Formats: sequence, structure tokens, C-alpha cells
Amino acid sequence: MIARPADSPPPVLVARDVAKSYAERPVLRGVSLALHAGERLALTGASGSGKSTLLNCLGGVDRPDSGSIRFRNVALETLDADGLTALRRRDIGTIFQFFHLLPTLTAAENVELPLQLNGVAPAERRDRVKALLERVGVAGRATALPAQLSGGEMQRVAIARALSHRPALLLADEPTGNLDSRHGAIILELLRELTDETGTALLLVTHSAAAARICHREIHLRDGQIGGQRDAD
Ligand SMILES: Nc1ncnc2c1ncn2[C@@H]1O[C@H](COP(=O)(O)OP(=O)(O)O)[C@@H](O)[C@H]1O
Ligand SMILES: [Mg+2]
Repeated sequence: MIARPADSPPPVLVARDVAKSYAERPVLRGVSLALHAGERLALTGASGSGKSTLLNCLGGVDRPDSGSIRFRNVALETLDADGLTALRRRDIGTIFQFFHLLPTLTAAENVELPLQLNGVAPAERRDRVKALLERVGVAGRATALPAQLSGGEMQRVAIARALSHRPALLLADEPTGNLDSRHGAIILELLRELTDETGTALLLVTHSAAAARICHREIHLRDGQIGGQRDAD
């Protein structure tokens, strides 16, 4: 892993004692964590340990049963559904194992969508989309539909989309889980560079030790509880 700068900026995200059950079965049990601007935190754990549930709660997609989650100065539990949607749209980017690009939109249109939703003017949208597609290495595929792209290309487009509105927080749920190791490594390097360049905090759910290595810190979930924390060596 990579050593973090000594003077930590204020936290982007703070979770305190987060708990959640499904049908009375506890899935998250008293999870607390903090994530700082510019920090990359790996969230590891066996399948079923609660990683995606935690990520969804932290990103305001799902709600915990108890505990608190603060994004910058806003407690998510004080927001209604519209408030959560607005916060996600403005401040959070997300990438997934299966890319989740909109199949009827081109690569460029997928990247443009968050900018449209955030009311960015057309000329600026075009400039930002062009620069981002170049930056992630798929400028030549701007007019392709997702079905015409390789897995690695789809994930590059998804990363460009997740960062287009310049979010403070990037959530990634096993983003290399559907890529071979070579393309997975390229995507991880891109995530490392882009989060360094933009100062975006990254919470990276992963099974892969290689993925955890691009992070400053790792938290291990075991049966919904934090079972171990490791700082960069
Ligand atoms: N919507 C849901 N309804 C019922 N059980 C769920 C739901 N989502 C997740 N679970 C259960 O919660 C546990 C944790 O799931 P998840 O957070 O997806 O784990 P992970 O991402 O670590 O594999 C699993 O046992 C899963 O079956
Ligand atoms: Mg999962």
C-alpha cells in the first residue's frame, strides 16, 4: 500500500456505529470508519460479509437501521429520498463490477449524463467529456455503444462518467472483478492516478490484494464487523 501524507485533510465521510439487518439477520454490526479527502481506502472481506451493503449505505443508496453517516457536514439520516438523490448526483461517483453503462447511449453520452443532470452548460459539457475520454484512453471510442466496447474500455468509460461531475467521493464495488488481471491492473493504475490528480476520496471494495495495494489503508469486514485495519507499510 501507499503511505498517506502526514497532515490529513478533514474527513469527507464519517460512519459511526452503522448497523443493518435483513429479515432480522444482522448484516452490518457497529461499523465505524472515516475517509479523508485524497485518501484511498480498501474495503475487503469474504463474499457475504456486508461490503456492498456498507458501500450502499455510505453512498446514500440504502439506509442503515441505526448509526450515523456524515458526508462532509451533512448527516445522511436527516435527508429524505430526494435529498439523498441530490447529494449522490452532485457529490458522489460510483463504479461497479459490471460497469452499468446505459446501453442505448454512446460512450460520450454516458459520460455527459451526470453533467446534464447537474445543469452544466452544453459547451462545457462537450469540453469536459472530450478531455475525460482522452484522459482515460478511449477518445477514439466516443461514439461507440457500450455493447461495442471491451470490458476494459467499458470500465474506462464508467470511470470517466463517475468523475465527470467532479465528485468529492468515488465509490467502487469490485471494479476489476470482471476484468482479466492485465486489464484489472491498468484500471487500478488509472484509478490511482485520477484520484491523486483530482483529490477525490476513494472507497474501493475488492477481493483482490492487488487492488488493496493502490490504497492508503485497508479495512477488513468479517460478518458485518470491522475485523482488522491495516495502514500502508
Ligand atoms: N436486499 C437484500 N435482502 C436480503 N438480504 C440481503 C440483501 N442484500 C444483501 N443481503 C445479504 O446480506 C449479506 C451481505 O451482503 P453483501 O453486502 O452483498 O455482501 P458482500 O458485498 O460482502 O458480498 C449477504 O448474506 C446477503 O445475502
Ligand atoms: Mg458485494
